[in-house]
Amino acid sequence: MKNLLEKLTQTTGVSGYENEIREVIRKEIEPFADDIQIDVMGNLIARKGIKKSGGKRIMISSHMDEIGLMASHINDKGFVYVATIGGVNPLTCFSARVKFLNGTEGVVYAETQKMDKVPTVDQLFVDVGADSAETCPVKVGDEAVFVRSFLDLGNRVVSKAIDDRIGCLVAIETIKALKDSPNELFFVFSTQEEVGLRGAKTSAFSINPEMGIAVDVTLAADVPHCEPGNPVLGKGPCIKVRDGSLIAHPKVIDAMKKAADRTGIEVQMEVLSHAGTDAGAIQLVRSGVPAGCLSIACRYVHSPSEMVDINDVSESVRLLVDLLSNPVDL
Ligand code: CO
Ligand code: ZN
Repeated sequence: MKNLLEKLTQTTGVSGYENEIREVIRKEIEPFADDIQIDVMGNLIARKGIKKSGGKRIMISSHMDEIGLMASHINDKGFVYVATIGGVNPLTCFSARVKFLNGTEGVVYAETQKMDKVPTVDQLFVDVGADSAETCPVKVGDEAVFVRSFLDLGNRVVSKAIDDRIGCLVAIETIKALKDSPNELFFVFSTQEEVGLRGAKTSAFSINPEMGIAVDVTLAADVPHCEPGNPVLGKGPCIKVRDGSLIAHPKVIDAMKKAADRTGIEVQMEVLSHAGTDAGAIQLVRSGVPAGCLSIACRYVHSPSEMVDINDVSESVRLLVDLLSNPVDL
């Protein structure tokens, strides 16, 4: 599982340009899916099974895209000024390395003379080693991802793009492990989540599910100088109750709790006042869809070094397989 996670996290897939990561995922799931489609927004949609008596149409959404930067202006000295793609914190950009989609790599720095303040996004620039706008290999509108290698710390793993390739990994492993189910399952590897849950919105409209589940990371509260609370690393998958985009449907929460009871999996309840996931978009499609989210506690979310506990990941797979293999009471 770690090898696949390394491949998933190290593959490029910034919002709006998810083609590389989509190909990697498509190859992984193709032998296990009944049908695979790619829609206009670039979502990869894999169907498994058909609806049998007692079953439901269920959409599971994990986003393929990752945060990054976009060239917004190139000055006459060849420095590339940027806009952010998704929730990028300038603090984590400082002296980071980035790679543009045409392969050009560079270092991010800031215009500040004194290093006593966090730079603002418009003070950030990327130095790709060019000395003029004309010779700069990057053009306005080019997107870049952060470069950071995969780190295996035993139970814990660290990489860029753990958000949300970890959700993609859980979905992939679930597709592989699923055997019999009364439910018709639509695994969506969604696009443009980081810029506003966009891919989930259109794919949920076309799938027209009776229930929606997002699989994504959530902010771990077990780091120094953080208000203590849930969730923490290594204490199992999290059942989301709310975040800034969603109040999870009680029956979806119930279905997750029942799966946890049946399997004996330790779970954590997650209450977040901000942020959002694909579940928030799925819930509001058409006349409304009961939706919830299975979260994996993650440290340093939206930095190039996001950390999760590998046991939380395998337990999430086990929980999701059980949940999707049984009839759901809605
Ligand atoms: Co994110
Ligand atoms: Zn995410």
